[in-house]
Amino acid sequence: MKIAICSDHAGFELKSVIEGYLEAMGREYEDFGTYSTESCDYPDFAHPAAFAVEEGRCYPGIAICGTGNGIGMTLNKHQGIRAALCWNVEIARLARQHNDANVLVLPGRFVDNVTALAIVDAFLNTPFEGGRHSRRIAKIPLPSAE
Ligand code: RB5
Repeated sequence: MKIAICSDHAGFELKSVIEGYLEAMGREYEDFGTYSTESCDYPDFAHPAAFAVEEGRCYPGIAICGTGNGIGMTLNKHQGIRAALCWNVEIARLARQHNDANVLVLPGRFVDNVTALAIVDAFLNTPFEGGRHSRRIAKIPLPSAE
């Protein structure tokens, strides 16, 4: 399955670095933009990437903006998305082990490239633990309106 990747202008350079890393690892990805450092609005790229993960066309997702907050807030509006803001390897591991996070969110202006790639590696290679955590994540989505 292809990894969905997206960013705004503040995350564009780190997105390019991560894409190079994914290519070196032989992992396929779909880039939902942005495609330059020109100022733009992160929801324009976060929503298409979120739909791709929710609908099972891509898995998992990686999203980057300056702080990680705006793009993460947008992603988490989708009921099927569990987007986790991660700024170190341990938080990335726990986001997978405990939260079964399906999108990694990085704060592009606050992590260096070496740290970011270590976080990506941890996120992609850590399994969900299940058990009590399955019960908890099942309670995250809003009840459907009937
Ligand atoms: C862009 O300047 C910045 O606001 C954006 O990347 C992000 O940090 C918003 O949450």
